[in-house]
Amino acid sequence: MAACRMNDMIYQHIPVLLNEAVASLVTLRDGIYVDATFGRGSHTKAILEQLSPQGRLIAFDKDPEAIAHAKLTFSHDKRFSIFHRSFAHLQLTLNELQLMGKIDGILFDLGVSSPQLDDPERGFSFSRDGKLDMRMDTSKGMDAMTYIANVPEAELADVLWKYGEEKFSRRIARAIVNARQQQTITSTAQLADIIKFAQPKPKKPHDKHPATRSFQAIRIEINQELSDLESALEQSLEALTTGGRLSVISFHSLEDRLVKQFIRAHEKGDDLPRGLPVKGSQFNARMKSIGKAIKPSTQETDLNPRARSAILRIAEKLS
Ligand SMILES: C[S@@+](CC[C@H](N)C(=O)[O-])C[C@H]1O[C@@H](n2cnc3c(N)ncnc32)[C@H](O)[C@@H]1O
Repeated sequence: MAACRMNDMIYQHIPVLLNEAVASLVTLRDGIYVDATFGRGSHTKAILEQLSPQGRLIAFDKDPEAIAHAKLTFSHDKRFSIFHRSFAHLQLTLNELQLMGKIDGILFDLGVSSPQLDDPERGFSFSRDGKLDMRMDTSKGMDAMTYIANVPEAELADVLWKYGEEKFSRRIARAIVNARQQQTITSTAQLADIIKFAQPKPKKPHDKHPATRSFQAIRIEINQELSDLESALEQSLEALTTGGRLSVISFHSLEDRLVKQFIRAHEKGDDLPRGLPVKGSQFNARMKSIGKAIKPSTQETDLNPRARSAILRIAEKLS
């Protein structure tokens, strides 16, 4: 568990599928690896433990607090370097380092870290009131307050539907637009209440909080999470060396669908017309899945309920 002290509060991140993700990723002690989502560095630490003094680990995070933590904790380790960038800049960064095509394994542990969720000031949480921000990279870009103040109603409804699979998307978008005409929406509690009262009462008391889906959708939109992932997956294929591994931990079905489809498309190779007398090797498949998708054990989810929705997929580059 990696702890971090901010604003006099200690926020901790319990890593998810730590052993499973690292064991399947690291196949060479002298290899070069990428942790695309440093967070609080538990996966980084476990990868470094597997590497020899000749190994190397390049890490990314969008979040300045994650970068500060990385510098504090790992700067003594010459095998480690961290970049304050989106993993969508994977190719650019590896080109700068002259490492494109030489990477032995890339890990993505997607979504937000517990310190991001738990610190009300980051504005990700509907259950802890704070400034409506939701940016992973607080050094740039539009925060959720500005987005909510300006987004056209139809566009907001689309975002809630597409990224939150929210069936009351239109009613919620309308309620938000009506509310912002009365008063600027500045806090997570204010937004959560508007969303809650825009929909029918949950049938069962233990149903998810009514703002869960909408908060997820707005967060995905603000941080361009799915477009970054789509772009980084394609770049990963070129970044890996033959036999290099890709390990992705997703936390919701939209992410996992992209990962699954990406691996499947490259496992299948070229789309040749049916019936042609060609061997499997002539389809130019570029990846193969390693095992089945892995979910956390009940022991892990009992200890860390946030792991419940996690799913790990592993693939290897063929050529
Ligand atoms: C689930 S946490 C990773 C936790 C980490 N594996 C650990 O053990 O502490 C996800 C992290 O990825 C970062 N992140 C999400 N999307 C990113 C992106 N497109 N580029 C870089 N970092 C990203 C978030 O800021 C967050 O710190």
